[in-house]
Amino acid sequence: MGEEQKIQKTALGLFPYKGIHLVRGVHHVQHLDSLETFEIRDDDIVAVTYPRSGTTWTQYILSLLYHGDQMTEGSTKPIQELVPFLEENIIQIDYKPSTRTFASHLHLSSIPQGLREKGKVIYIARNPKDVAVSLFHLQNFTKVLKSEPDFNTFLIQFLKGEVLGGSWFDHVADWYAHKDEFDILSLTYEDMIKDTRGAVVRISNFLGKKLDDQTIDTIVDKSSFKNMKEDPQGRRDKQYPAFFEKSGSFIRKGKVGDWKTMFTVAQSERFDQIYMEKMKDVPLEFDWEL
Ligand code: A3P
Repeated sequence: MGEEQKIQKTALGLFPYKGIHLVRGVHHVQHLDSLETFEIRDDDIVAVTYPRSGTTWTQYILSLLYHGDQMTEGSTKPIQELVPFLEENIIQIDYKPSTRTFASHLHLSSIPQGLREKGKVIYIARNPKDVAVSLFHLQNFTKVLKSEPDFNTFLIQFLKGEVLGGSWFDHVADWYAHKDEFDILSLTYEDMIKDTRGAVVRISNFLGKKLDDQTIDTIVDKSSFKNMKEDPQGRRDKQYPAFFEKSGSFIRKGKVGDWKTMFTVAQSERFDQIYMEKMKDVPLEFDWEL
C-alpha cells in the first residue's frame, strides 16, 4: 500500500486532549504529557499561535534569524525541522543544539512549565473570523482532518472549539490573561501584514539581535507572502504532500478581511455577539479588514 493510501485510511481526525483537539497520528498523548516537564533552556524561543494565525510565517522569520545557513538558495531542509512544533515528536527535540527555536499551538495549560522561568515566547494572534475561514480551507485541504464542505457547520464547530486547536477564544484569552508570567512578545497577524518590517524589527529586538538595515530588508523580502508561497522549504504541503489533497495551498491568500468572502451577515452578527461575550476582558484589538 502506498504512503498516500495509508494516510487516507489511518488519519481519522481529531482527539481531545486536556480540553483541546489535536490530530490523531500526528500528536501522541505520551509525548504531550511529557511536555509539562520538558526542560526549557535559557535561550529557547517558542512561537505560540492558534492554528492559521501566522505560525509558518513566524517559523520562516525565525529560520532566517537563526538558521540562515540552511535558508540559502537550494536548501531543502523544511522550516518545520528548523523550527519544530513542540507537540509533534517527529524529531528528538531534547538533543537539538542551542539556540532552539520552536513553534506551538498548545494552549496555556499544556505548555512546558519551565517556560515561565526560562526562554522567550512570541505569541501571534489573528482576528478569529479570518482564522475560521483559513482553518475551514485547511480542514478541507489536509487529509489528516475530516473534510467539512459546509462552512456553516464548520463555523458552529469552530465557535464550540470542536476543531483543530480547540477554542480560539480560550487559547487567546488564557494566553493574554497569563502573559505576564512569561518573557513574551505579543503581536497580531494584522500588525505583521500592516508593517512587516516593524514586526521583524520588534521580533529581532525582543530576541536581543541587533540587525543592520540590509539584513532586515532581506528578512522582510524573503519572508514575504509571494516568496514564501514559491519556496517549498516553507510549505508543509510541499514537504509532506501525502498529507494534503492535490489542489489547494498551505500558504493560501495572506489577506486581512478574507472572512468577508465567506461569512453571511447573520453568521457575522452571531460571531460578533459571541466574540464580545468571550473577549470582553481581553485587552486586544484586531483589524478585521484593511
Ligand atoms: P490564509 O489561509 O488566510 O491565506 P499558519 O501558518 O498559522 O497555519 O497560518 C496560515 C495563514 O498564514 C494562511 O492564511 C497563510 O496564507 C498565511 N501566511 C503564511 N505566510 C504568510 C506570509 N508570508 N504573509 C502573509 N500571510 C502568510
